[in-house]
Amino acid sequence: MKNSNEQSSVRFFSRRQIPVEMHKVKVVQSINLAKPQRRLDAIAEAGFNTFLLQTGDIFLDMLTDSGTNAMSDEQVSKMFVADDAYAGSKSFLKLKESILDVLGKELVLPVHQGRAAENIISSAYVGIGSHVPMNYHFTTTLAHIEKNGGKVAELYTPEAMKISSNHPFKGNMDIGRLEEFIVRHGKDRIPFIRMEASTNLIGGQPFSMQNFRDVKKVADKNGIPVVLDASLIGENAYFILKREPGFAGSDMRSILREMCSLADIVYFSARKLSSARGGAICTNSKEHFDKMKDLVPLFEGFLTYGGISVREIEAMAVGLTETTDVNVAGQSPQFIEYMVKELQALSVPVISPGGALGCHIDAGSFAPHIPQREYPAGAVTAAFFIISGIRGMERGTISSTRDAEGNEIMADMELMRLALPRRLFTLSQIEFTIDRLHWLFENRDLIGGLRFTEEPPVLRFFTGRLEPVNDWPNRLLHKFLEDFSI
Ligand code: F0G
Repeated sequence: MKNSNEQSSVRFFSRRQIPVEMHKVKVVQSINLAKPQRRLDAIAEAGFNTFLLQTGDIFLDMLTDSGTNAMSDEQVSKMFVADDAYAGSKSFLKLKESILDVLGKELVLPVHQGRAAENIISSAYVGIGSHVPMNYHFTTTLAHIEKNGGKVAELYTPEAMKISSNHPFKGNMDIGRLEEFIVRHGKDRIPFIRMEASTNLIGGQPFSMQNFRDVKKVADKNGIPVVLDASLIGENAYFILKREPGFAGSDMRSILREMCSLADIVYFSARKLSSARGGAICTNSKEHFDKMKDLVPLFEGFLTYGGISVREIEAMAVGLTETTDVNVAGQSPQFIEYMVKELQALSVPVISPGGALGCHIDAGSFAPHIPQREYPAGAVTAAFFIISGIRGMERGTISSTRDAEGNEIMADMELMRLALPRRLFTLSQIEFTIDRLHWLFENRDLIGGLRFTEEPPVLRFFTGRLEPVNDWPNRLLHKFLEDFSI
């Protein structure tokens, strides 16, 4: 594949500021728009939890970009030449070459997905009394660190929590807080500092290269390793290229390389980064490699497949290289930015600036009449499914957890995330989404709260079941049917 970094004049937007896609559709899958009453029944059957919906009832699946990015023809074709071997597969060598080329790391531990990497890193480095500072947590990261007895500290800057902002790098770590944190807890109790590219839970917001350089400087001064969660590194690199002073003349490849050079350990979910299904931990340090190596056969599989199908390993190798193409890494951010601007023009509250992964609706101000203990983000997400057939994801207090006494830990933000996986949706589908969001916003008073009927103790958002606090879903459906004369 030609790398369009080398092509000089790529036009990203038309004169009407419409994002222009640098690919065409070759293989398609039919989708179904279920009738409104069926959508209400489906979400009720799913316990008002969009994770528990079946895709047959879903029109546009914006739950996640994880494992759902559209693959390229090159990726799919390589899956047919995969080298099936329990040990020593050629396909793994291709992945190693691609990781060395794109991320600049020589030693690779394959794992079946991102959280498996977190399991291994946490098992190897985190113990009772450990403190792990990071720009922000991700759900599975937090769960694995806590499972091993550690605590997470989120050292974000005040900008991170502003819904509406022009700040280009809301995912930055607060360097002053980091220095102070190390003094307070002592470097010996800090096994590593974690930076997450395109910080997922605060709206896919990137950190700047300068910030990462500063983090590394503090880490080195104290002899603390830096771990980079690179699941969304392609998008973060794209934002550095587009937003950070001094990088306009740079290219994706060198930005990706520099980012990874600042980390002692890089791990990623290939379900995001390389538009395939797998994951990996990478490093140039034999010491780090050896500390984790034996856990791979224990939890994942042999060291040359790590629980990943060899076909997916081939697709990962190609997908990683394709991430260096600004048109690949930039496609989802451009669609998100378009959606953010259109929604802002309609006064729908949305996280700005647009980030990676998806468009994040601020459910807190979308439905301010719903108290946080009745899960406004979950309620807006369920309501949106009823009136559109679009599946979003709750990223608010349901995705949080309870403290040791059983009290809710209220989320910093109540968000409905509408994921826009790479190259998956057309602009007409984005327009439909905007139109339905606008209708729901105008009828937001009809949305009511939710309460748990079944609440698992760990990662409750995946499988927990809820019910509406009153009959609001029926009233919402009724108004929708009236307005659309169905
Ligand atoms: N780190 C980040 C930043 C993630 O976004 C994810 C997954 C993981 C780690 C875990 O990777 O799913 O392959 O085990 N995020 C998905 C999402 C689940 O929908 O945002 P995984």
